[in-house]
Amino acid sequence: MTTQRDAPPSIRFTSLTVRYGDDAVITDFSGTIQPGEFIAVLGPNGAGKSTLLKTLLGLLKPSSGGIEIFGEAPRRGNPQIGYMPQLRSNASSTSLSGRAYLHAVLEGYRWGFSWPSSSRDDVVLAALKAVDAESFMDRSFDVLSGGERQRISLAQALLGQPQILLLDEPLLNLDPRRQGELIEMVDSVRKKLNVTVLFVGHDVNPLTQVMDRVLYIAGGKAALGMVDEVINSEALSRLYDAQMKVIKVEDMLFIMAADQRTIEHGDHFH
Ligand SMILES: Nc1ncnc2c1ncn2[C@@H]1O[C@H](COP(=O)(O)OP(=O)(O)OP(=O)(O)O)[C@@H](O)[C@H]1O
Ligand SMILES: [Mg+2]
Repeated sequence: MTTQRDAPPSIRFTSLTVRYGDDAVITDFSGTIQPGEFIAVLGPNGAGKSTLLKTLLGLLKPSSGGIEIFGEAPRRGNPQIGYMPQLRSNASSTSLSGRAYLHAVLEGYRWGFSWPSSSRDDVVLAALKAVDAESFMDRSFDVLSGGERQRISLAQALLGQPQILLLDEPLLNLDPRRQGELIEMVDSVRKKLNVTVLFVGHDVNPLTQVMDRVLYIAGGKAALGMVDEVINSEALSRLYDAQMKVIKVEDMLFIMAADQRTIEHGDHFH
């Protein structure tokens, strides 16, 4: 009999190594992530956070080792995965409204079947409602603020009720109130649907209330564990291959290099 315990994990990494040419982004990383876990994916600019997501999406092949998603190899267009790409300031724009854009995605190549048009409206509206985007869903993408675009992008990731959400820096462009709202929104979706969340960010502090574990990437290596296991001076110094210092102030964690410059902080420009 198949029990809950026999079910494959949501994601399994087995000695995963990912390289661009000779540069290792992730080396010999193993670990498992269970359904419904909220994982904060952290690390400095250029560490490999987006690269890890692209590998899960099947857009990039591991150099060695592997990844299983519910027991199977990653594949492009897997409807089990909802993906919110990292917003680039030069991202190509569109005059479509958010609502029209979501319809286009539903009808597009991603899904191996077409949705009946009657339910399409409901599916699109439910996703837009989930991110509280009804007030601007009929406005052209061109005129939306960065934060509004982020929410349309999150709605797009929620289409099709994925079992895994890969969110690449969803807090970018959001003011502190909207950041808190988005984190709560994602957390309530994951609790309702038991979705696994990989949430890429630069600062652990906004996520400490909701996250289960941390996946930290730095120095060509990755570490997965409870926040106290991963974000401490010894563990991060090993990862960075440099002397790092973690300072705790009340419930806030600050990560410093030996030269005392804060590496991890909420405000980042790309
Ligand atoms: N197609 C590619 N070919 C070669 N190098 C690449 C390619 N894509 C990314 N890189 C490099 O791999 C490293 C990891 O990039 P990645 O985008 O995964 O970092 P990141 O952790 O997401 O950074 P950020 O916080 O700035 O988004 C960077 O040094 C980047 O320049
Ligand atoms: Mg990135």
